[in-house]
Formats: sequence, C-alpha cells, structure tokens
Amino acid sequence: MVKVTVCGAAGGIGQPLSLLLKQSDLITHLSLYDIVNTPGVAADLSHINTKSKVTGHVGNAELEEAIKDSDVVVIPAGVPRKPGMTRDDLFKINAGIVRDLATAAAKFAPKAFMCIISNPVNSTVPIVAEVFKQHDVYDPRRIFGVTTLDIVRASTFVSELIGTDPKELKVPVVGGHSGVTILPLLSQVSGTDKLNQEQIEKVTNRIQFGGDEVVKAKDGAGSATLSMAFAGARFALNVIEAAVRGTSGIVECTYVALKADEQGAKGVKDVVGNDLEFFAVPVELGAEGVKKILPIGNLSDYEKQLFQAATSELKTNISKGSNFVTEGSKL
Ligand code: 2OP
Repeated sequence: MVKVTVCGAAGGIGQPLSLLLKQSDLITHLSLYDIVNTPGVAADLSHINTKSKVTGHVGNAELEEAIKDSDVVVIPAGVPRKPGMTRDDLFKINAGIVRDLATAAAKFAPKAFMCIISNPVNSTVPIVAEVFKQHDVYDPRRIFGVTTLDIVRASTFVSELIGTDPKELKVPVVGGHSGVTILPLLSQVSGTDKLNQEQIEKVTNRIQFGGDEVVKAKDGAGSATLSMAFAGARFALNVIEAAVRGTSGIVECTYVALKADEQGAKGVKDVVGNDLEFFAVPVELGAEGVKKILPIGNLSDYEKQLFQAATSELKTNISKGSNFVTEGSKL
C-alpha cells in the first residue's frame, strides 16, 4: 500500500501533478486535498483505469482524513508569482499555508516523505523541518525541497546549445531554488567544453531565472505549473521507487538538511561553510529517503564565484523560514 497525498491538488500545479501520479502503478491511494474543488478533480481522475484509488478532501475539517498515514505528502499549495515578484515575495501567504499542512503531516503522517514545492522553497523546507522538530518527529532524511525543475530546465537549455538529447543530459544543479541560489554545475557536463565563457554565463543565468520566463509569458496568470508538475511527479515517483521498490542508484539533486547525511555533507561544507543548514545537493535515495549525500564535485572558478553569491541569500532565506516557526509566526 502506498498512499500519496497532494496538498493543493486543485491548483495549477496540483491538478497536472495528480494526473501524472495517477498514471503510476507504484501508488495505491491518491489522496487529493485542497481548500476548494477537490471532489471534482478526484471524480475526474478516478475514471482513469489505473489501480490507485482516488479520494478528494476539502477544507481544514477534512485535512486529517486526507493526510492520515500517508507514505508521501507532496505540497504544491499556495499562491504563485505575478510578474515582478520574487519567490520570497510569496512568503507572507505561503509560509502559513505550509506550516499548517506540515503540522497536520507531523501529527497524522509523521513518517511520510515530505516533498515541498510551495515557494519560497528555500524557506518553506526549513518551516516544515521546524514544525516536525516541534512535534518530536523530525527526520531530516525524509524532508525534501523539490528543485527538480531546475535540473529539468538545465537539461533542456544546455541541450539546445550543445545539441544533445535533453532526456539523456544530466546537469547537476545545487544550492537553492531561487535566482542566484540556483547553481548549475555546467563544468561537470560533458560537451560544455564547446561553450565559451559568455555562453556559459548566459545559460547559467537562464537556468537561474528560468521561472521568470514563464511568469512573464503567463502575464499575471501565474508561474510554471505544467513543467513543475512534471518535475514534482518525477521526484515523488523516484522517492517511492527507491523507498518502496528498493531500487538502488536513484540520484536526484534536492534541497535537504545537510544533517541528513553528515558524513556525505562534509564536502559541501568545505565549500559553503558550516552555517548553512539546508542546501540542494545530489542525493542517493533509499528506504528512509536520503541514503547518501553525494559529493558536489570540482567547481570551475566561475562556479566558485556563484557559490559565494548564493550563500548569504540562502542563509537569510533559511533563517526566515525557521524563525517563522520558532518565533511563533511573528514575521
Ligand atoms: C519555478 O521555478 C514555480 O518555482 C517554480 O518556476
């Protein structure tokens, strides 16, 4: 039995994400939670002839039932950006939403793998971690910020330049999930030696600000939903594949607490220092979530500069999230 709950299932990301998850034979119960419209989305998806049962749950009164005993909780809930906004501008609204969903998960599904999509991910993941700490159920190996869209974008944009199949091109992207905290490690990708420094800087910037391209093109109607759903489903299904089927060797870059594997995180700490509690790193997934944090590898001089620019913003984002919970949501 594998129960997956999508919180925010009727939203722009939640609906296509739920559709993609409904196609998987790894899931036996797909539980859809939102503050409106989930009965309709659930009825619609339930006609698809895959084996998972689909249930819809609306509003706070039905949150416990929605989330109870979930193996995986995916959270895309909240509001998206409008043109001119940064992900951090969403904090005011989304922080409280994520805190409340995390509280329900900590109480009713404390062992769930938590996959956080709601922005600002750099801060919402620390929020979930603090809530789990407060409930004494914190396991850093089980809480993930989904940064997969950065990796997906990097594969697409770099492939366009070097002429490879984007599906096969793996580009490690570490750091965080907003602007300059997104750190694509292009020097580690074979074929990028064809690119000159100007091209490297241009494509790095495009990966870092890829979300803005979509926000601008949608012109007030929100941010990435379809590509985010694709990335979120890929990540959640890989977590299940490793944990439930026991498939080994599955690696995803994801934003996690470096405590999840202190030994593995040593190499990252050598570069970013000891102050950052969370960082997106390549992770081997396993039965308990994070099995191993893998080395980030060699960095070019340009990438070292990018790391420096990312660190102070990440630090601020992380304490903003943690303080929101520890200081009683005064922010
Ligand atoms: C993005 O990167 C929505 O954060 C998401 O576009």
